[in-house]
Amino acid sequence: MSWNIPLFKIFWDEQDAENVTEVIRSGMNWATGPNVQEFEARITQYLGIEYAVTFNSGTSALHAILATYGIGEGDEVIVPSFTFIATANAPLFVGAKPVFADIEEKTYGLDPEDVEKKITSKTKAIMPIHYGGSPCFIRELEQVAERHNLLLIEDAAESIGAQVDGKKVGSFGDAAIFSFCAPKVITTGEGGAVVTNSKEVYENLKLMRSHGRFEPADYFSTSEYLEYVTLGYNFRMSNITAALGIAQFEKVDRIIEMRRRNAEMMSAKLSKIPEIELPHSPDGFFHIYQMYTIKVKEGQGKRDALSAYLAEKGIMTKVYFPPVHFTHFYKNKLGYNCDLPVTDRLSGQVLTLPMYPSLTEEEINYITDEVAIFFLHRNR
Ligand SMILES: Cc1ncc(COP(=O)(O)O)c(C=O)c1O
Repeated sequence: MSWNIPLFKIFWDEQDAENVTEVIRSGMNWATGPNVQEFEARITQYLGIEYAVTFNSGTSALHAILATYGIGEGDEVIVPSFTFIATANAPLFVGAKPVFADIEEKTYGLDPEDVEKKITSKTKAIMPIHYGGSPCFIRELEQVAERHNLLLIEDAAESIGAQVDGKKVGSFGDAAIFSFCAPKVITTGEGGAVVTNSKEVYENLKLMRSHGRFEPADYFSTSEYLEYVTLGYNFRMSNITAALGIAQFEKVDRIIEMRRRNAEMMSAKLSKIPEIELPHSPDGFFHIYQMYTIKVKEGQGKRDALSAYLAEKGIMTKVYFPPVHFTHFYKNKLGYNCDLPVTDRLSGQVLTLPMYPSLTEEEINYITDEVAIFFLHRNR
């Protein structure tokens, strides 16, 4: 379907195209190459973290970090069900069990109290997400992890640049992952990264990402034998992709500023509609609006009707997220039957509206007017 206003548009410029073209034109280094290290250096500088390892997706980054920590058979990892399915699948990739904890209503992140209730002798890690650009209560989760001697792995796929009291998400846990998939704040089409302050984890991630091969030299430009020292995958980000990542990173602060300005305009216009709740952040939380998600107070019927009405007007919306424990795979194949009341209720109320840096004032007016018209005329 072609939408008048899609859910997202990629923010790109000639530098993106030039960086990619330059690698292609070189006729060399399309797989590995110096852009990968350069992109990783940009990520570490931006976040104030020691090490970054790029991956070919956020999902492979999640897989690799759990495998690197030796999480496996018999272990449990606490995750939200209110997330993209990859967060929950990652423990399954390594033979561990995802255990769902409920979310809280302020940030839609993991509820630290419920997380504490879900801890057992098998729990190895807590893996919260920062939903749609909003930090979760990561400091509180940090305390839970410390109290129980658990790993804290931030799934910051959606939230590069988000902050709590000036500290960027991704810098709180033992490690964190980011995604650079197309709808994300900066994108390489597909891509991901793990960040950590541990040199040991960093070294092991590099092995995991490239066949378990020890690579003191570039594999494709050395004739030396490089030893295979452990089990590994091909999870590498290509040098072409990393070139795009470097160009995208140049714009990250501008992109975030534009998203925040657009979200502010959207909220100002929607604030007069009593039937909905707008995204809001606790004091000291810096939301970067990778998504702009409203809550339709009445619930699923009205939310779905609003979504259908906006679709008629050419405005794309989407439910982020239908809970993972309701999917066919988790419910019927894995037999999950969970008591997650906040997740269940909120997933029936949330609706993500279009949000991207180049969204114009005219488009914002069109979206917000149509939401208002729906509640004025279709509400009776
Ligand atoms: C919270 C969350 N975790 C993990 C992922 C997976 O990232 P990717 O699509 O890059 O594999 C996503 C991406 O949609 C996500 O939103």
